[in-house]
Amino acid sequence: MKIINFPKILDERGNLSFVQNKAEIPFSIKRVYWIYDVPGGEVRGGHAYKELEEVIIALSGSFDVAIDDGSGREQVFHLNRSYEGLYVPGMTWRQLRHFSTNAVALILASRPYEEDDYIYDYKEFKQLLRKSSNANE
Ligand code: TYD
Repeated sequence: MKIINFPKILDERGNLSFVQNKAEIPFSIKRVYWIYDVPGGEVRGGHAYKELEEVIIALSGSFDVAIDDGSGREQVFHLNRSYEGLYVPGMTWRQLRHFSTNAVALILASRPYEEDDYIYDYKEFKQLLRKSSNANE
């Protein structure tokens, strides 16, 4: 997990930021989607991906991204700047919550939408993590 600072072109007419594959983003972008009109108190995500890597950006407003890499310790990133993004690697449990009014979450993803890549069960997530760390020993 790391915060990526995007280029920021400051201008009296309004600021501008951009991302490019493999420059600002550490993978090749295959899909972009956004989450908006989130009612107060709702939570999105709450799962992991086996392979997919992503960068999550608060294009507007703010929200929290809660991350668990399997250690059981949750790390919370409060995103509220449109010129930065949170890089989340595969095999990371993540949840988006505490959306402000009019928040827009933009997600840059390394893979197309693949239902099979989702892990919805936390126990299964932990088991898969254990398996891969045993295989690497
Ligand atoms: P999902 O990824 O489960 O959302 P969240 O993690 O925020 O709960 O997606 C919700 C629904 O949208 C699900 O039925 C699949 C569909 N979907 C697509 O068809 N394409 C996409 O790119 C995404 C992200 C979701």
